[in-house]
Amino acid sequence: MTSKVLLTGATGFIGKRLLYKLDENGHQVRCLVRPPEKLTLPRPLSHEPEIFYGDLLKPETLKEALSGMDAAYYLVHSMGGRSIRQTHAFEEKDRAAAKNFLSAADSVGLSRMFYLGGLGDVSDNLSHHLSSRQEVGRILQSGRVKTTVLRAAVIVGAGGAAFEIIRYLVERLPVMLCPKWVYTMSQPIAIDDVLAYLAGCLENPQTSGLSLDIGGPQIVSYADLMRMYAKVRGLKRLIIGIPFVSPRLSAYWVNLITPVPAGIVFPLAEGLRNKAICRENRIRELIPARLLSMEQAICNALAEEEEGPGKLLSRQSCFLPEIESR
Ligand SMILES: NC(=O)c1ccc[n+]([C@@H]2O[C@H](COP(=O)([O-])OP(=O)(O)OC[C@H]3O[C@@H](n4cnc5c(N)ncnc54)[C@H](OP(=O)(O)O)[C@@H]3O)[C@@H](O)[C@H]2O)c1
Repeated sequence: MTSKVLLTGATGFIGKRLLYKLDENGHQVRCLVRPPEKLTLPRPLSHEPEIFYGDLLKPETLKEALSGMDAAYYLVHSMGGRSIRQTHAFEEKDRAAAKNFLSAADSVGLSRMFYLGGLGDVSDNLSHHLSSRQEVGRILQSGRVKTTVLRAAVIVGAGGAAFEIIRYLVERLPVMLCPKWVYTMSQPIAIDDVLAYLAGCLENPQTSGLSLDIGGPQIVSYADLMRMYAKVRGLKRLIIGIPFVSPRLSAYWVNLITPVPAGIVFPLAEGLRNKAICRENRIRELIPARLLSMEQAICNALAEEEEGPGKLLSRQSCFLPEIESR
């Protein structure tokens, strides 16, 4: 059935891809964007989306955008900025943005909403970034609208900030001296699988109001993920763990090597100490999908034309067929 859907974050890594997926599935999409000219579409869509100016920090811009919609996707965060001083400014903004959006959604009687946040256990002394993502989920579930919260670790796809950091480090450094957090375990997931789950939630009313963990088929450390990237690219890389490097020091170092903005690198690096593994897998029954391996997800990212926050060209050689035949 066709739904009218408001998509926030349509200029972002996940939002832009979801726009194509929702269009493919026959839904009518209205995009909420700050500067409308920032929404550039790499390929034509079957139906032109409606474009609405809106800023989650300007409550007066939200009600009209939400009017007449069956559902909304909340794919927004406030991390960013080049300056290291800006690295903690996101929490207050994200709290305000979620409250503004929920209030507007409740006032127009929106029935369903979908939010993608982060994995991580509250008992694990969560980083500012991960606690803030969970707080946003709690706010969005506290109103009358039925909000589905999906929680993911690193999403592997061209242009994803966390994936681009891994890509730059492995591409640029033959020997990596990494903090011990590089051995923290997590359950990354391919962007295609995230899109299947996000779009699938709209089709499946049983997901309404639930919090669901989503993860790929492998539980790996960040060091494993970097080794997988190197293997898929046919690169020889040495990763050495150094116990005394703090997350802040490693963030300075990552900031020097990669062009991903400091305002994103610092909060993400701080979160490397937190395990990001699914506590439950109900999503696999609610929305059955054949999950991609991380090697395949990396290869797909290398085959894309998309540019990420670092603007590295995505298209690079991939040696996956050789790896699979071994
Ligand atoms: N990427 C990952 O690996 C990953 C992993 C787990 C969870 N997630 C979650 O997925 C969601 C989307 O992340 P992403 O990677 O797609 O982020 P992204 O590429 O940085 O995009 C963020 C989007 O938020 C928009 N935005 C920020 N502040 C806004 C405001 N005040 N009003 C309206 N729009 C605003 C941005 O618009 P502008 O273009 O105008 O700045 C942009 O479209 C987030 O909730 C994130 O926590 C991502």
